[in-house]
Amino acid sequence: MRPFEGRRVLLGVTGGIASYKTAWLARLLAQAGAEVDVVLTKSAREFIGAVTFEALTGRPVHTELIAEGHALDHIKLARGASLMVVAPATADFLSRAAAGRSDDLLSACLLAASAPVLLVPAMNDRMWAHRATQENVAHLRSLGYTVLDPEAGPLASPHEGSGPGRMPEPERILAHVGRMLEAREALAGRRVLVTAGPTREALDPVRFLSNHSSGKMGVAIAEAAWRRGADVTLVAGPLSIVPPPDVRIVHVESTEQMAAAVRAELPNADVLVMAAAPADFRAKKVADGKIKKAQRPDSIALENTDDILATTLDARKKGAVIVGFALETDDVLKHAREKLAAKKLDLIVVNDAREAGAGFGVDTNRVTILSATAEPAELPLLSKHDTADAILDRVQEILNGR
Ligand code: CTP
Repeated sequence: MRPFEGRRVLLGVTGGIASYKTAWLARLLAQAGAEVDVVLTKSAREFIGAVTFEALTGRPVHTELIAEGHALDHIKLARGASLMVVAPATADFLSRAAAGRSDDLLSACLLAASAPVLLVPAMNDRMWAHRATQENVAHLRSLGYTVLDPEAGPLASPHEGSGPGRMPEPERILAHVGRMLEAREALAGRRVLVTAGPTREALDPVRFLSNHSSGKMGVAIAEAAWRRGADVTLVAGPLSIVPPPDVRIVHVESTEQMAAAVRAELPNADVLVMAAAPADFRAKKVADGKIKKAQRPDSIALENTDDILATTLDARKKGAVIVGFALETDDVLKHAREKLAAKKLDLIVVNDAREAGAGFGVDTNRVTILSATAEPAELPLLSKHDTADAILDRVQEILNGR
């Protein structure tokens, strides 16, 4: 089933140049299974035509408050919508929305809507920074609307330069739509702590020991938990991918730093997913200066770093769900079961490092989920995003049972 099947999204478009990106958003929403009803303001029609949206959504586009004799379109459109999105929302629209105006179809729909509302402002950076706009945004947020902050970057016209004012990309808006549609029943209000990526252990000021972890799996879990409405903190080692824009990130370098960050966050976390691959060894002595080629030591004495899961047991919140990962090459399930018990986990997600398409660096994963209580669940080869969702489904089941 497509993720937004059975949902109706009311998509308002106001008169900004970013409306060309809204056409793509309409397509993404329709592809995700949503019924998309588009409402264009008069000035939006100066920028983009109704036929574009009609073609992309397969549904009629609405423009007039009183259209050919039926005056109650706004009530019909607003009623039963699962979500209302306005993108782009101009400074003028924000001001009219903040004042509770209802003199055109879109503003009337906003007043009549009982569904959650997502407003996506886009405008010139000075208009965004103006106190009048900022006060309108603060007021709209106090009314319960979700208002995204525009992104910094080059604005539409070459004369405008760059600054905060750009509309976020349609994929990012889609992620927010997903979060708002999913959040109600899922992880809303829960605190989820995720670790991702490798850690680095210095040998000298320029060299380190590490591993091939990219952070993709942990980032996918953080994003999926955020979409389900959780308040997410990501403790990230040096990632090879761009971290998600909407979750709180604590950057760390060494295993010791990761352990300290986890310890600090853990007492508040309802869920911990340890998807990171912390370095297990470090040099007993880190050289103060760069080790010169001519001074190459024949060997480097190593010691173990702390095991983060095992050394933070006392910091766990009562009832928290704890998920570990295990990357194994031999006796995969046996070793994973031992880790499940030794690290007092609710779930352990097991990768066979020798299997193609699974493990470090790639976008897919084939995992088995072991739990302390249920039969092992072998998942098929899935994208890391789908793997993240499968893991969180099980986390939610456990959480709901406690
Ligand atoms: N882990 C941890 N602290 C470490 C190393 C690993 O908390 N210093 C966590 C990982 O994030 C993962 C789980 O422990 O969730 C298992 O990691 P793995 O590397 O598979 O196991 P190790 O405990 O390092 O054991 P071994 O090296 O014997 O496989």
